[in-house]
This record gives sequence, C-alpha cells and structure tokens, in this order.
Amino acid sequence: MCGIVGYVGMRKAAPILLNGLKRLEYRGYDSAGLVTVAKSGSRRYRVVGRVQNLDKLVKGLDLPMTCGIAHTRWATHGKPNETNAHPHTDETQQFYVVHNGIIENHEKLRAGLEADGAHFHTETDTEVIVQLIAKFFDGSLEAAVEEALKHLEGTFGIAAVSAADPMKIVVARRGSPVIIGIGKDEMFVASDVSAIVQYTDQVIYMEDNELAVLTPGDYQMMSFDHKPIQRETFQIDWKVEDEGLNGFPHFMLKEIYDQPETVRNACRGRMNVSEGVAVLGGLQSKMDEIKNLRKLIIVSCGTSYHAGLIGRYIFEALTDLNVEVELASEFRYRKLRLDETTGVLAISQSGETIDTLAAIREARRKGALTIGLVNVVGSTIARETDCGVYCHAGPEIGVASTKIFVSQLVILNLMALLIGRYQMVSLNEGVSLLKALNRLPDQVSDILARASQIDELARIYQKFDNNLFIGRQTHAAVAMEGALKLKEISYIHAEAYAAGEMKHGPISLIDENFPTIALLANDASYDKMLSNIQEIRARSGPVLAITYEGDDQCARHCDDLFRVPQTHDLLQPILTTIPLQLFAYYCARYRGTEIDKPRNLAKSVTVE
Ligand code: G6P
Repeated sequence: MCGIVGYVGMRKAAPILLNGLKRLEYRGYDSAGLVTVAKSGSRRYRVVGRVQNLDKLVKGLDLPMTCGIAHTRWATHGKPNETNAHPHTDETQQFYVVHNGIIENHEKLRAGLEADGAHFHTETDTEVIVQLIAKFFDGSLEAAVEEALKHLEGTFGIAAVSAADPMKIVVARRGSPVIIGIGKDEMFVASDVSAIVQYTDQVIYMEDNELAVLTPGDYQMMSFDHKPIQRETFQIDWKVEDEGLNGFPHFMLKEIYDQPETVRNACRGRMNVSEGVAVLGGLQSKMDEIKNLRKLIIVSCGTSYHAGLIGRYIFEALTDLNVEVELASEFRYRKLRLDETTGVLAISQSGETIDTLAAIREARRKGALTIGLVNVVGSTIARETDCGVYCHAGPEIGVASTKIFVSQLVILNLMALLIGRYQMVSLNEGVSLLKALNRLPDQVSDILARASQIDELARIYQKFDNNLFIGRQTHAAVAMEGALKLKEISYIHAEAYAAGEMKHGPISLIDENFPTIALLANDASYDKMLSNIQEIRARSGPVLAITYEGDDQCARHCDDLFRVPQTHDLLQPILTTIPLQLFAYYCARYRGTEIDKPRNLAKSVTVE
C-alpha cells in the first residue's frame, strides 16, 4: 500500500515525482505529497485526496530543485488529512521522510522521543522515523538513517532526504518493496517500477535489511550492518504504452479488452501442441522435485485466491497431487505438515502481497518447495520462491484485477499439464487441452464483441442493492470472483455461494428484490444448477443466467441470459468470468463510482 517515488539528478524533480505518483496512485489514494530539497529551503506540498489535487497545487510554481521524494498514501495510522500526509519532517524541517509499511513500536518510540523534548505534529507511525533521524544526525544522513533503523520494529520501505545534503536520497527496506532506478547522471527510487519505467528500464530490487545512498549518477548499497552489496541490474521489459488507456475510459475496461492478448502472452512459447506438453522454463531447474511432490498447497489473496480455488480443480483433474488452497493471511495459523514432498504455490499479481510473501517464507522455513505464479517481474515473491512462472501480462493498473485472473487460470492449466503428463494425462488429453487454449483468445474476443448485451443487463440489474452469485465446482469459485468484482467497484452488496449450499441458508434471502446470477456449465452439475434456478424463481427471485452456447433449456427458467462459447471444461471458468467482469464494470458505471480506484482499496496490499 502507499506509493513512494524519489529523484536525484540534473532535471527538475517535481514533474518527475508527480508523474511517478500518478502511476503509483493505485497503491493508495487518500492523500499525496512531495518535497523538493534545497539548502536554501526545501519546499513541501501535501493534499488530501488524489494526486491530481497535488498537481493543481504545484502547477505554475517555480520548483527548480533537482532532488525530491514523494508519496501517495493509504492510511494505516492517522486519518487521511493533510497533516498526516507524507513527506513527514522534523521540527527543524531539515529532514523529510516518506514511508510505506507499519512501525509497530511507534508509540513506545514516540513516548521516548517526547520525553527527550521532541514535539510530534501528526498521528502517523512514520513521524518517529524522521524524528529519530533528526536526533541521530551528526553530519551524515546515511549514518543517521542507519542508526534510526536500529530502533524500528515492523515493516518499512523508506526514502529520506536532508536539506543540508540536498543531492542525496537515502533509502532502506524491510518488508516493503523499494526499487532503485538507474539513469544517466540521475537516480530514481520507487515502491513499484511503474513509477519510473518511463525514465529508465535499468533497476535494482533491494532486499530486506538493505540501505542505499543515491546521488546523481551513483548509488551505494549496503546491509544494515554496513557490509557493501553488489547486485546485478535488472532490465524491465514493460513498455510505457502498456500503461496508457489506449482510448478506453477506464483501465479496468482496457484490461478486460486486453484479455485475448493476455491469453496469448500467457501461452506464448509454452505449448508443444503436437506432444501435448507445456514448456515452462521457470520450473525446469526444479522439475525433479516437482515431479515427486505429493501435495500442493496454493496460497494467495483476493482475486488470486479465487484463481487458486479453480486451480485446485485443475490440478486434481490433471495430476495425482493432493491439493489444498489457503488464504495466505490464514496460512500461518494452520498446523500444516510441510516437507520436501509438499509444494507451496504462491499466486500473486503484484508479487508483493505481504500475507502471500509471509506464507512462502514460512513454507520455505518448513522445508517445502516454493513456486511462484506472479505477474510483476522481479517482485519479491518472484525472487523469493524456488522457481516459478510469470504471467507476462504487462502492468495491471485497475485496482480490481481482471486480466491477471485470466492469465493465472491459463498458467495453472499449463502447470498442471506439465506435471500431469508425467502422471496421468494422455497425449490426446494434453493435445486437446492445448488446442482449446489456442482457440481461447478468439472466444474471449467473441464475448467482448457482445459487451453491449452485458451493458444492457447491468442497466437492469444495477438497481438491486443485494445479489447472490451461485455456481458449482469451478464455477462456485467463479461466482466468488464475480461477486467480488461487483462489490469492489460498484459497492453493490453481493454474496457468492456454491449452489449446493443455497438451501442451507441463503435461499431465505430470496425475494423479488434479491436477484441471483447463476453460472452454468455443460458438465455434470448442469441439472442441479437448473433445479437451483427453479427453486429461486419459485420464490420470486429474479435470475440472470450465464450459460454456454448450445444450452437450450435454461432460457425457459431464467429472466435474463448471456451465453459464452464452449471450451474445454478446465478453461470454461475463464469464459464465464469475462461477462461477470463486464457486468461489474457496467453496474459501477451506472452507479457512478470511481471504477479504477474504488474507495478504501489499494492494488498492492503490503501491510498485514
Ligand atoms: C488487492 C487487490 C486485488 C488482488 C489482491 C491480491 O486486494 O485489490 O485485486 O487480487 O490484492 O493481490 P496479488 O497482487 O497478491 O494478486
């Protein structure tokens, strides 16, 4: 959560910081601020709300300074007001700090500093960091930061500057991402590459317990115990164009429409159709261990968790593995027996979700093989897992995940096929799955070409304040994803149930004002779903069915219906998801909500 960006070089810092903040805004957007540093007087600007407010405030000002740091906030400690907005400073206004994470012992530190005479001005946990830096400063900013860090418990990614040394940024990381961008005679820092990718594609991912000193054209990295660190630079392959709206009104819609290409990117170079096998280079080095796994535990959060729930069916269908799916935030509370025959698969778009990261660290500690399925190249989860596969889906900017979910489902199929071909999947079965994957992008396009039908359905259904989503097997998880999308961006209440649970409670909610979105597939559960729909209709509940092309029964039993093309059973959840994404999008548009930045949410959840 929270976004950090910093610049030191030859250019004016303010426009670069503002650009970076705009690209980071999906990490948090309740307040924003920046400071540009100069001996003659640093200039700090902070606003409540969006980066555009900061942009307006700063526009037209003469800010020639070439060093600065900035922040967009997702409030943890203290209300989202201007006082609590970062950067924070000390009483002499010499030092400024931006911070992502939580300082757990901030109250104790604050009491100690106050006892020494310091005066605090904000309710944030961050202010203790800058007060500590001021206290320990003895001519060297890096030494003061180093000393301050010794007192901090919790998580942080920080950037600190000092007016006394205005061409230097000191950054440090424990638990929250910090990335250094290397330019020509200029250096950048950011919590996410998207903030700096338009200026440089050469980056260094800092590890936990590392500190770096950035000056124009140079950086020095060291451990908290002062050992110098050399790390290879990483080349980012994202293009700036990937981050534009390309004429779409919202990133979410753009990303929904990206999905035919997302499927192609997930499959590219990874399918040997004639041999019915998947080729996943990122798993190759650990293939001997993977083949011998007996159990797979999938850990993830949010939409990635829903992909995991579908993944369980995919792995069960194609492999001999016993599969469990855990919410990463609950993983540590389970008494799971892990050993080298257990694989723990972390699914994460950002690769930075703190709970998912904590889960794989715990899994590694207990001796399990850890595997990543991650979109952001070079992210912490990608680096800390033993092996893994990237989505290669480009940046996902909309806070509500869409294209990455689809990408994750495609890759889960490929992973399971890779293992399954050593175990139980025949050549013909492998070939048939891969051929179906080849047809998938066109089928997704076919749905997108009929988006106006979903728009019309959304116009009708958005008037309801409560909804139920039901499905069976993989479609029970798709129902969860459909309900989550609707809640996240339109703020319409939606619940998801495995349809078999209907009679155990939710059916009592049903009346003419409580519609059900029923998901049907051409599988063994079809007749049961049809019965569930009739039970709902018998109680006057409106029913919108998402079913498959060729289903000629359902139309008689529901109020409204949308058909998706048929594909391989294991890929059908992908096609059923697309209309639900569009449905949520159009409902939100009718309701006039902020689609790409829903209230209280952040794209990357880096605090527990
Ligand atoms: C946040 C995002 C969701 C995402 C979840 C997990 O809640 O808003 O879109 O599904 O985090 O994120 P991850 O990056 O680990 O997939």
